[in-house]
Amino acid sequence: MRIGILTGGGDCPGLNNAIRAAVRQATQLGHEVLGVHDGWAGMLDKDVQPLSWREVEGAFNEGGTLLGTSRTNPYRSPDGPARVMKNFADMGLDALIAIGGDDTLGVALKLTAAGVPCVGVPKTMDNDVGGTDYTIGFQTAAAIATEAAERLHSTARSHRRTMLLEVMGRTAGWVALWTGLCGGAHLTLLPEFPVDMDDVCAFVAARQARGERYTIIVTAEGVAPQNLKGMDYEVRGRDQFGHVRLGGVGEAIADEVRRRTGVETRATVLGYVQRGGPPVPFDRMLATGLGLKAVELAHERRFGTMAALRGGEIVAVPIAAALERPKLVSPELARSVMPLLRL
Ligand code: F6P
Repeated sequence: MRIGILTGGGDCPGLNNAIRAAVRQATQLGHEVLGVHDGWAGMLDKDVQPLSWREVEGAFNEGGTLLGTSRTNPYRSPDGPARVMKNFADMGLDALIAIGGDDTLGVALKLTAAGVPCVGVPKTMDNDVGGTDYTIGFQTAAAIATEAAERLHSTARSHRRTMLLEVMGRTAGWVALWTGLCGGAHLTLLPEFPVDMDDVCAFVAARQARGERYTIIVTAEGVAPQNLKGMDYEVRGRDQFGHVRLGGVGEAIADEVRRRTGVETRATVLGYVQRGGPPVPFDRMLATGLGLKAVELAHERRFGTMAALRGGEIVAVPIAAALERPKLVSPELARSVMPLLRL
C-alpha cells in the first residue's frame, strides 16, 4: 500500500509524534508513506515527500508539524475535490491519513464518500472533537496555560490587581476550564455558558469589598459577554472554513471591569504560546497510539473511521459519529469542578 499522511488546521504539539508512529508502523507492515505538505493544499498541488524512519525518528520532542499545515479547504473551489481525487490516483495512493480537527476530518469524511479512502486522527488543542476522550495537543496547551495562570498570582497579589488571562477556545472551554481549575483562578468564563458583564463586575467588586487582595479570571477567547461592547472580529477576515479570527475579549473585559469597579485590572492574552514548543509526555503517548492505530485502520481498509482514545484504550470510531456534534464542557462537569463558575 502507498499511504499519504497530512496535518491540517492549526498546528499543535504532538503532531510529529503521530506522523513518526504512523511511518514506523506503515514501514513495519511493508507499506510506503508519502508525507503531504501543508494540509489539503498539498493534495491540491501534489506537494509531497517520501517519508521513512530516517526523516521522522528525531521528531519525538518537536512542536508543530514537520509536514506543514494550512486551513485550506478543497471544497471551497468547485474543482477542488476532483483535483484531490485525480492527484490521489496520479500519485498511486491507496489511503490517506488526515490528522486534524473537525474541519480537516470533515473534509476526510466527504472525500471518503467521494472515493478517496481516508482515516482520521483527532488533534486540536481545543479538545473539542467528539468520539475521543482527548485530542492531540490539549494536554500541552492546558499545561502551558496553567503555568501562565499560576504566574499571574504573584503580580496580582503584590499589586492588588485583577488579572484576566485569555486562553484559546472558540466554542469549547476545555483549555479555560483546566486552566482555571489547575491555575487557581477565582472565576472562569467558558464559551458554552452565558457570561454577563454585570455579574463579572459584581464578582470583582464583592471580592474587593471583602478585602481580598486580588482576583484571577480566566476567559476563553470565544466568550461573548452580554453588556459588553461588541467585538468586531470581521475586520480580521475569515478562514476557508468560515471561522472568524478571535482574540481580544480579555482586554475588553479588563477595560470594562476597571471602568465599572475602579479596581486596577490587566489582561494577558496567551495566544500561540499555547500551541508551541515540545509536547508533554501525555501528548507524545496519545499521538503515538493514535498514529499507530491509524495505520492499522488503513491496513485493514476501515476507511471513514478515526483512531480515538476511549476509556484508556485506543479504538476506532466512525468519523461521522465523532463529528455529529463538538465535544463541549457540560454544565455538570463545569459545576462539579468549579463551584465559582457562573452558570
Ligand atoms: O486550532 C484551534 C485554534 O487554536 C483556536 O482555538 C483558535 O481560535 C484558532 O486555532 C486560531 O488559529 P489561527 O490563528 O492559527 O488560524
